[in-house]
Amino acid sequence: MPKTKPALFRPTPANLTRLANQLRRGGIVGVPAETVYGLAANALDATACARIFKAKGRPANDPLIVHLAHAADIGNVAITNSAAGKLAEAFWPGPLTLVLPKKPCVPDLVTSGRNTVAVRVPAHPGFRRLIKACGFPLAAPSANPFGYISPTCAVHVRDSLCNTELRAILDGGDCTIGVESTILDLSDPNHPRLLRPGGLSLEKIEAVLQQKVIKPKTSAKLTLNSAALAPGMLPQHYSPHTPVRLHPTLSPKRAQQIPANEAIVLLCRPREKTPLKPNIFWLSEAGQLASIARNLFSKLRELDKGTWLKIHVELPSSNEGLAPAIRDRLTRAAAKG
Ligand code: TXA
Ligand code: MG
Repeated sequence: MPKTKPALFRPTPANLTRLANQLRRGGIVGVPAETVYGLAANALDATACARIFKAKGRPANDPLIVHLAHAADIGNVAITNSAAGKLAEAFWPGPLTLVLPKKPCVPDLVTSGRNTVAVRVPAHPGFRRLIKACGFPLAAPSANPFGYISPTCAVHVRDSLCNTELRAILDGGDCTIGVESTILDLSDPNHPRLLRPGGLSLEKIEAVLQQKVIKPKTSAKLTLNSAALAPGMLPQHYSPHTPVRLHPTLSPKRAQQIPANEAIVLLCRPREKTPLKPNIFWLSEAGQLASIARNLFSKLRELDKGTWLKIHVELPSSNEGLAPAIRDRLTRAAAKG
């Protein structure tokens, strides 16, 4: 079968109209979010959403996030509550997904038969303009083949979803956050529960709720049973084909001793005077978590294209800000299936 590569479209008014029309006809379109690129379809059209599952090779028990143009639209798809209202006011548009009781108009396929729906208002202006042009909400998981590293630019989507039904990607540049949204289950507003650490820190959420959030078990302890409580949160996910080895600390000196055919990814640029070996890479200049998150998936993809036998990665040690999300993605990338 000849290779088919989807085309890239910049967010001009004419292109947005064209892509909105494709979505209206039940098509799927790659979309830029501030977090990672998504694979979108009309969230109210089950046949269209089935195309997302097919293109990604995603199991039917892994529900999709529904994206809205405005926080005020939440009542169209979910039954909201005051905790959700406070968080939406504080953090939308932005990298926070709320799980709430669903309205009947949301197809069972989107929620994998659950009585809750995950909703968010993305901050990427191109994505929001597309939702507005559509006039209906867009269901969109990350635009990677199921289990592989999430895409943070349009070319990642084009490369990993060629030979699928996908024909068009809205190219909104590089993702500014680089890890997926934080998912908070507010179906019981008295017991908010974190389902996935992500681009918005838990500290900021707790400060607005003025309440502690229940945290999931650490990734290492996740079993398939607990994964069923937070569907899609499987121990192995976001995985390059090359084996990943994690290091709680990895000094540049120790890194220099790792064999030349294994890649090493440090959190920040080493300050050593001696020349560095060509298998040493880094994610930030000075250890800033925002840069580490922004560069993480693209560095893993880049190295996975090479001939490295292993990818060694240094883990962030802090428990604050984006560190739990970075650790979560790396732990799953390194987990064995
Ligand atoms: O940043 C993001 O969240 C990106 C962009 C495109 O918005 N989307 C994303 O989607 O990461 P995805 O499908 O890769 O991850 C969504 C996860 C699912 O795997 C599942 O764990 C959770 O959201 N989810 C969706 N609906 C749910 C529900 N009703 N109850 C519990 N978890 C749900
Ligand atoms: Mg995903």
